[in-house]
Amino acid sequence: MASIQIKNLRKTYKDPATGVPSDILNISFFETGPKKHLAIRGVSGSGKTTFLHCISGMISADSGEINVLGTNLSALTESKRDRFRANHIGYIFQSFNLLDGFTALENVMLGMQFSDKGADRERAELLLEKAGLKDRMFNRPSQLSVGQQQRVCIARALANNPEILLADEPTGSLDPKTSAAVLNLIRTVAEDKTLILVSHEPEVLQQFDSVTDLNEINQTAQV
Ligand SMILES: Nc1ncnc2c1ncn2[C@@H]1O[C@H](COP(=O)(O)OP(=O)(O)OP(=O)(O)O)[C@@H](O)[C@H]1O
Ligand SMILES: [Mg+2]
Repeated sequence: MASIQIKNLRKTYKDPATGVPSDILNISFFETGPKKHLAIRGVSGSGKTTFLHCISGMISADSGEINVLGTNLSALTESKRDRFRANHIGYIFQSFNLLDGFTALENVMLGMQFSDKGADRERAELLLEKAGLKDRMFNRPSQLSVGQQQRVCIARALANNPEILLADEPTGSLDPKTSAAVLNLIRTVAEDKTLILVSHEPEVLQQFDSVTDLNEINQTAQV
């Protein structure tokens, strides 16, 4: 069974000024298998983030099927989708989305509360330690370097030991050395997981055996 399978996905966004909808995603078929590491390439504005948001169920598609681990997300209510995501999908955001009123440890633990497993401080500490942040657990995001914040995001994405990891340009704001270390960390922690990573950086894409251009699967191909 494919871990992610998409059929006839359509996603439009309305222009906020005119209200006119424009096609962002039009994907007749896409799938990726268990434990496969796939990179998706695409220029800015091509719909990479929208694609990952649809797969994670954070936004709903206009139509089509998004099957994740055999569950069609489009058929679930929003709260069921949120629960499903908490249990099965780890998401590394392009813009981190860490909560600044909370420490690194609390940020990781917050992600645990929505899953069936619940919060587990010991596991959160272990994940941060694995991410190289043993001595930064009580720092808030604003008290961390950008590379360290990205490591907190990786630990948070792993909070509920998901089968699937989605990474949205996870090295976009890092220098080359930190970028290589962060990418290495993601590949290592995702060894037993399905990974989809989107990027436009050649140095990142060349690390993957499997690279797909978003325009190859997206018939909208607007950019
Ligand atoms: N909420 C929204 N409302 C209207 N249009 C949107 C919305 N979100 C995204 N878009 C548009 O959808 C298109 C795809 O955006 P998306 O963020 O998926 O691109 P991307 O490939 O991730 O770009 P980048 O590499 O810059 O992160 C863009 O043209 C963007 O302006
Ligand atoms: Mg994006």
